[in-house]
Amino acid sequence: MGRIPDDIVDEVQAKVNIVDVVSAHIPLKKAGRNFKANCPFHNEKTPSFVVNPDKQIFHCFGCGAGGNAFGFLMKYSNLSFPEALRALADKAGIRLPDVKIDHTSVSRLSLLYRFNQVVAEYYYNNLLNAQLGRRALSYLTSRGIKRELIDKFKIGYAPPGWDGLLKFAKSKGYSEEAMERLGLILPGKEKGHYDRFRDRVIYPIFDLKSRVVGFGARVLDDGDSPKYLNSPETEIYVKGSNLYGLNFAIPGIRTRNDVIVVEGYMDSLSLFQHGVENVVASLGTALTVDQIRLMKKFAKSAVMVFDGDMAGEGAMLRGLDLFIEESFEVKIVELPKGMDPDDYIKKNSRDAFMGMVDNAKGLFDYKVSMLEKRFDGKSAEGNYRIAQEMLPSIAKISSAILKAEYLKRLAERLNMKESDIREEMKRARPDSSYAHKQGIPLSAKPVNLDPAEKMLLGLMLEDSKRLDTVIAELNLDDFMDPRIKMFIEYMYRRHSKGSPVEPAKMMNELDGEDAGSIISEIACGCGTSGEGDRALKDCIGRIKERKRKFEIDKLKMQIKRAQDENNEEKAMMLLSKCNQLLKSNR
Ligand code: CTP
Ligand code: MN
Repeated sequence: MGRIPDDIVDEVQAKVNIVDVVSAHIPLKKAGRNFKANCPFHNEKTPSFVVNPDKQIFHCFGCGAGGNAFGFLMKYSNLSFPEALRALADKAGIRLPDVKIDHTSVSRLSLLYRFNQVVAEYYYNNLLNAQLGRRALSYLTSRGIKRELIDKFKIGYAPPGWDGLLKFAKSKGYSEEAMERLGLILPGKEKGHYDRFRDRVIYPIFDLKSRVVGFGARVLDDGDSPKYLNSPETEIYVKGSNLYGLNFAIPGIRTRNDVIVVEGYMDSLSLFQHGVENVVASLGTALTVDQIRLMKKFAKSAVMVFDGDMAGEGAMLRGLDLFIEESFEVKIVELPKGMDPDDYIKKNSRDAFMGMVDNAKGLFDYKVSMLEKRFDGKSAEGNYRIAQEMLPSIAKISSAILKAEYLKRLAERLNMKESDIREEMKRARPDSSYAHKQGIPLSAKPVNLDPAEKMLLGLMLEDSKRLDTVIAELNLDDFMDPRIKMFIEYMYRRHSKGSPVEPAKMMNELDGEDAGSIISEIACGCGTSGEGDRALKDCIGRIKERKRKFEIDKLKMQIKRAQDENNEEKAMMLLSKCNQLLKSNR
């Protein structure tokens, strides 16, 4: 982007009022200086969606969505930034210069997203069509899926013919080329193209922004095969980079702080239907790093629920190590043999299922007990094999304290001497660890925002005069969170040019998925009612102190390394540095 000059963006922004923009789509209620509504981006019964006319931003405290007027329109109407800009410029009577809005990438992709959306609606309407959708609807009913859930997940039905979708899409003016690019049709051997999905229930796959990126399609009769057909990878669908249902699960994840991961479409739908709303599906593949990072954005921990027949496989056990590498807590539930989550919750109850979730085993215990089933835990040989499987995982744990704890527990469990285990450990190198490879200290990539940094940013947004104090006291390097760092850098830059800092403008210029939602959360957060300047000092102090501690820890590590290498001179030098820092306490 960046093709449209900033001053035009600013001009449009100055002319539109976010209250008008939002209330054109959803009813707003006045609440003090602000306006409130039920959030259009997630399901809720009490409003947590706030529009702030002073700052010209919106934020939902339920699902975290947030941004300015452009951001609202982009999210609500599924538009690209240039498209939203154009829409609002039209409204404000501002003629945009004929800048070449980048049709090649941005709008081509948004065309594909919109087309997928139209296709999802076509399938959905088929399902609800009294004749056409009868069998599919009764199939879903027989599996306990109710109308409300069908609507929410936009479940649909692809009719049996060869060209139902083809004809429909052509009538809507979409080209075969677009359909082929989305994997919706296939080239025939003799005649033209034909529909990929026929006589199947359709599950649209949404991304985080609730855009339809692909489809899963299931047969109606269990005997037919393959049971599932899925969209191929396309420009907008990369397998392993999505989690099915995550867009709907965010509010549920936020209330419980954990995310439940199951394998199948039906498993996640069925749990949802039973009121378990923090569930996502990995869609049959082994979890990827991308998927784990996606969860980390919203959850503090994950619970994997495995079907009761696949656990204990070596590849799966090793896959779990990804969670360790990403420093993300994971627990595991293994269902009774032959059952998947859908079977289990239907046969038992929601409470029984949640009981399993709440009593899930930690990664360490789970892995050891799986290994004990594979190798004879009573023989020395078996124990050695178990240790060999466990040690590389333990070596990946980044916290020294946790690592020591697990080594101790492993020694106890295997009836070995801890010193022997430690000796063996030296040979198990954690070299595949991501953080290790990148040389990233763990504290540099926190999941949630640091409270002091967050508050400081809020105070600066509240009153930009405070920027002077902050600039005098803190360097960019004193901030740990890369996102906060990016915001602060932007503010410093604006401030040095004498330009005002406005949250709604900041969002236009800072890229990144979270920028709008983080800034709006902070800017809409509580006011400090006169206590602001004291809070500012306090935050600065806390950030400095944390930085000092971080430096000390780093030095201690370096000292230890220098000592291990018998480099006394270097160790002494580092030690005196460290002592200085230790003394500089205040
Ligand atoms: N899967 C697939 N292709 C297949 C089989 C399975 O893509 N031929 C994926 C699907 O994402 C499916 C998941 O693997 O949801 C798990 O498979 P399975 O346990 O068979 O699916 P369920 O969701 O349990 O399906 P159902 O209960 O409807 O039979
Ligand atoms: Mn199933």
